[in-house]
Amino acid sequence: MDIINHKSVEYFAKSMIAWYRKNGRDLPWRHHPTAYQVWVSELMLQQTQVCTVLGYYQRWMERFPDIESLAAASLEEVLGLWAGLGYYRRARYLHEGAKYIVQQLNGRFPETVEELKKITGIGEYTAGAISSFAFGHNVPAIDGNAERVLSRYFGIEGDLTRGSARKILYQNAQEIAALGQSALVNQAIMDVGSSICGRNPQCQMCALAGKCQACIHGWTERIPQKKVRIEKTIEYRACLCISDDKGRYLLVKRSPNVLLGNLWEFPTIPIYKSKGKTAEKEGFDKARLPRIHAWKSWFESHGFHAEIQVMRNTGQQIRHTFTHIQMYLVLDRATFKAADKSVFIPDELYTSCEWVRPDQFSEYPMSTMMRRVVEVVN
Ligand code: ADE
Repeated sequence: MDIINHKSVEYFAKSMIAWYRKNGRDLPWRHHPTAYQVWVSELMLQQTQVCTVLGYYQRWMERFPDIESLAAASLEEVLGLWAGLGYYRRARYLHEGAKYIVQQLNGRFPETVEELKKITGIGEYTAGAISSFAFGHNVPAIDGNAERVLSRYFGIEGDLTRGSARKILYQNAQEIAALGQSALVNQAIMDVGSSICGRNPQCQMCALAGKCQACIHGWTERIPQKKVRIEKTIEYRACLCISDDKGRYLLVKRSPNVLLGNLWEFPTIPIYKSKGKTAEKEGFDKARLPRIHAWKSWFESHGFHAEIQVMRNTGQQIRHTFTHIQMYLVLDRATFKAADKSVFIPDELYTSCEWVRPDQFSEYPMSTMMRRVVEVVN
């Protein structure tokens, strides 16, 4: 049986193009974009709102206007420009991908979805966005927004990540792309998905309302089917803001192969890590216990010989959500009697250290979570 309703597909494409011509957002990466510009913007826009991305995108393009300048940069500088956007793997992908394209492909971006997907960090969606926006190929680009718009319009129930629901979703998307103008249609879907067809859809404002299955039948609550939420691990870590007699703070650099790799931070040690209902309370209780001995042994094992003079548990906490972890950073403070002359002994988490004045913190790429610690310190 033909599961595609061609009339409905045509109506969708036509309405979306008409809507986009009138209402589409004017965004910097939409002005005759190159593949490089689409790639950078799409990676920035994963997990991050447009309004946050705008400034980062502008600064990035000023510093790395093309793929050659990005490929020639150090990872340190790339991470510095990314600092605060979160999900730092994206910056690493851009840097690695740029080097690959410059060195292996003579700086020429592939045009097709299949070729683009060979670049680390480019999946089906990003490949579709680059191929359609930069090269004018007629292919779909399905992210979470598009999934919502398409599944509601076509009334696709069930788990969109696999099986028949996924198959129907992609068949309809392919059919829409085959009608042409994918660059316009894909961007229209993104805008409708983020502004009108959100979790609480504004169907009265939608150009598709009269033909949208979910709107007609009142199914917008159950389509798309809710994703099963993974229970997060609760993690408590102590974070030490320790200053020497010159007012400099100890910063340590995370090793390249861990979460938030190569970023700088105040040293942290584990307090508690678990899942489940009681984890938050247990972690909180453990965090109140003194940690002077734990810190002393951290300093000893990293080759420091100076005396830690004052130590207090400030009671300040920073709560930060990662994809799989709910992190609580519990802030401790201490001072060194004198500047330390020791040689840092690395471990699997930290590779090096530096004593840094607060006015120089901004020169050290840090995660959003650590920037929040900086705000507390300053
Ligand atoms: N979200 C993801 N990609 C986007 C784009 N190109 N424009 C606006 N919002 C987006």
